[in-house]
Amino acid sequence: MSAPAFDFKDHVVVVTGAGAGIGEGIAQAFHAAGARVALGDLREAPLKQAAGTLGAERVFAQAVDVRDEGSVASFVAAAEKQLGGVSVLVANAGIYPNTPVVDMDVEEWDRVMETNVRGVFLTCRAAARSMVAHGTPGKIITISSGAYASGRPGAAHYCASKAAVVMFTKVLALELAKARINVNCIAPGFVRVDSEVSPLTEEYVTALTRGIPWGRQGTPRDIANAALFLASPLADYVTGEVLSVNGGTSAGRSQLPLSTPPGARKERSP
Ligand SMILES: NC(=O)c1ccc[n+]([C@@H]2O[C@H](COP(=O)([O-])OP(=O)(O)OC[C@H]3O[C@@H](n4cnc5c(N)ncnc54)[C@H](O)[C@@H]3O)[C@@H](O)[C@H]2O)c1
Repeated sequence: MSAPAFDFKDHVVVVTGAGAGIGEGIAQAFHAAGARVALGDLREAPLKQAAGTLGAERVFAQAVDVRDEGSVASFVAAAEKQLGGVSVLVANAGIYPNTPVVDMDVEEWDRVMETNVRGVFLTCRAAARSMVAHGTPGKIITISSGAYASGRPGAAHYCASKAAVVMFTKVLALELAKARINVNCIAPGFVRVDSEVSPLTEEYVTALTRGIPWGRQGTPRDIANAALFLASPLADYVTGEVLSVNGGTSAGRSQLPLSTPPGARKERSP
């Protein structure tokens, strides 16, 4: 079955953390669906490269630090000047360092909270203010993680930050319902992106992959497909929700064996 054809040709889509990984995949998907796309990222070189692969048309790119109020305001204002009023925001920028709590310094805790929580607040606020001011029935999508509901060693700050993103999303959805602005969250499972910002050990990747019932790692396109849906009219009545996109990882304990001994059960499963 082919994927539904989404049409975003009348839309301006702003994506943060768009210089790599999931954000880059989301920007590509919206651009391919006809949108004018504004890419923002802290790192200029990958941002330039990501924007370059989209071509010259319907693309705007500017370095932004989502932790910084002025930087976010100037990014959104410049994107709107170039492309028109924002109708879709994907607040995707995030970092994932790993350190046990007893070894963690305050700087690392703050960096995660400032990027993953304050950054989501600042970008969503900038987009929401514009949508409200222009009467745009827009769509705001935040990117959390399966880590919002499932702890893992070394990620106290990350898990806390992603849980905060979920509750922030729900409250913003309540506040913006009257303005007909949908606010939803995607919680990706493991997506292989080979991040330069948040590198992973092979041991960690192998263990994570083993826990995916679907039997493969997620791709940026898997997450982008969920973003296309949530930004589309098909999701007009969906708001304040968390959409897990993880090949079944959060459904339960897929690695448990059957409890009934062989011989005492019928074998029909795939
Ligand atoms: N890859 C996964 O398995 C996975 C799983 C669940 C959730 N996520 C979430 O998805 C989002 C994207 O992650 P990814 O895996 O593509 O990571 P990535 O490291 O490949 O990309 C993240 C991008 O965000 C940018 N960035 C970091 N700090 C920034 C800041 N202050 N301002 C602007 N840009 C900044 C980085 O430069 C980078 O290009 C993150 O929020 C992450 O927590 C990822």
